[in-house]
Amino acid sequence: MLDIKIELNPNPKKLPDKNDPLVFGTIFTDHMFIMDYTAEKGWHDARIVPYQPICLEPSAMVFHYGQEMFEGLKAYKSKDGRILLFRPDMNAKRTNRTCEILCMPGIPEEDFVQAIKELVKIDKNWIPTREGTSLYIRPFIIATTPFLGVKPADKYKFIIILSPVGPYYPEGLDPVKIWIEDTYVRAVKGGIGEAKTGGNYAASLRAQMKAHKEGYSQVLWLDGVHRKYIEEVGSMNIFFKINGVVVTPMLNGSILPGITRDSVIRLCWEWGYEVQERLISIDEVYEAHKNGTLEEVFGTGTAAVISPVGKLRWDDHVMVIRDGGIGELSQRLYDNLTGIQLGDLPDTFGWMVEVK
Ligand code: COI
Repeated sequence: MLDIKIELNPNPKKLPDKNDPLVFGTIFTDHMFIMDYTAEKGWHDARIVPYQPICLEPSAMVFHYGQEMFEGLKAYKSKDGRILLFRPDMNAKRTNRTCEILCMPGIPEEDFVQAIKELVKIDKNWIPTREGTSLYIRPFIIATTPFLGVKPADKYKFIIILSPVGPYYPEGLDPVKIWIEDTYVRAVKGGIGEAKTGGNYAASLRAQMKAHKEGYSQVLWLDGVHRKYIEEVGSMNIFFKINGVVVTPMLNGSILPGITRDSVIRLCWEWGYEVQERLISIDEVYEAHKNGTLEEVFGTGTAAVISPVGKLRWDDHVMVIRDGGIGELSQRLYDNLTGIQLGDLPDTFGWMVEVK
């Protein structure tokens, strides 16, 4: 159990207006959590302080070799005033898996969740309640040792910041257009693709800019070896409904083990769908589109929730899915997931954690 010192912000900011669009990741709350690590002391000095810049030496290793990790989860306010977190234990577990991959010190799961709960409690007035909004929670760890040699650092900071957000994509639940990338690769098996670390997102930017230039909002990655098997989308995992079966790439070490992905699989099982986690080639998707069995495509992610895909472009082939409209399963998943998260539907899986 952490002993968290609290320094309240003497100059709280004005809360966003009820009609503020809450563009994703642009507004930050009054407080942040911070905790230090040294090899001698382990994690220590847990504190909640006013949201502020952090001071680091320019030689801090994070700036040079990218030793950092981050997470993303959300807090919601239910109609009866409860504050709810969605599966924070899963983020704690994934943090520790990422830390293992990047040779960083992990954080006890209960400390990770406690820090989030305490911070959200202090900034609870920042949880927006308009439809499609939530309080996005961004925990991250950075290497702070001032050193220019390449090796794991021995000093770190664990920080949590909060941001009231609307939809990740400006499209909201309207279907997005996705560019299938066959030149650049994001990650390869044996690399760090399954880690939630900035490097994987840095690796995605060039392709994302290319996609944007062509009028597509995200990139769908193919595997780095054969350039053939579907991996994931820039900020989401990807699902296909082909001839009634729900298909998603299996976790192979190079894609992110999404918490929304896991939740969607469980919901689909519950509803009696056959779910296959396996290799899916782009040729299979293209064939399914050609023969009319590609019924739905959607992305899943904490930020994006469920994001229906209306158009896929692969090389010269443009696949329009459901005439660019939202599929039945995508809509049902969105309604059920957000219903559970907001406390409007029964939490039969025991996913929600109340902040008291
Ligand atoms: C999330 O969905 O929480 C993520 O971390 C994706 C991020 C790129 C917004």
